[in-house]
Amino acid sequence: MEAGCGVGAQTVHLPAASAGVLLTAADLSAQSLAAARARVAAKAPAADVTWHQGDLHRLPFRDGAFDHVFLCFVLEHLPDPEAGLAALRRVLRPGGTITVIDGDHGSAFFHPQTPAARRTIERGRRGNQARRRMRTRLPGRELPVDLMPSSSGRPVPGR
Ligand SMILES: C[S@@+](CC[C@H](N)C(=O)[O-])C[C@H]1O[C@@H](n2cnc3c(N)ncnc32)[C@H](O)[C@@H]1O
Repeated sequence: MEAGCGVGAQTVHLPAASAGVLLTAADLSAQSLAAARARVAAKAPAADVTWHQGDLHRLPFRDGAFDHVFLCFVLEHLPDPEAGLAALRRVLRPGGTITVIDGDHGSAFFHPQTPAARRTIERGRRGNQARRRMRTRLPGRELPVDLMPSSSGRPVPGR
């Protein structure tokens, strides 16, 4: 299952990487889903994709429905990435796997480096953290490590 598939930029590649996969692609945005569907139809017409429009925190799938969850550039858009991951873990089968790709905004690089640019990104991070009581605004760098112990028996470090 791909959560937050957007306009399908990654969706088109997933069937090629996993031959015969039965893929469910979900996104909040009906407009993006329509674009994703068109993209997959054009670029990967043989792909077997079920499309779902809805919030990844409330997916209408049974517990453990999926072997693998894939999400790319989604956590950074969630007010509480840990809650999003926990909701996705529910639909992941015990022992299933998850691929998380996210931006590492902690490595933001400006050229020329200016105090104003640095202040802006720092202010955004601190503001978001305080407002949303989040452990991190850098999910691409600091994926919470204690999310998966009950599915695999051991913590999964963010890499
Ligand atoms: C930056 S886009 C990434 C799209 C795609 N994964 C990619 O790599 O091109 C983030 C996507 O997450 C979706 N999204 C954000 N919050 C969501 C939520 N709560 N449930 C489902 N999708 C969500 C947005 O609609 C958007 O399509």
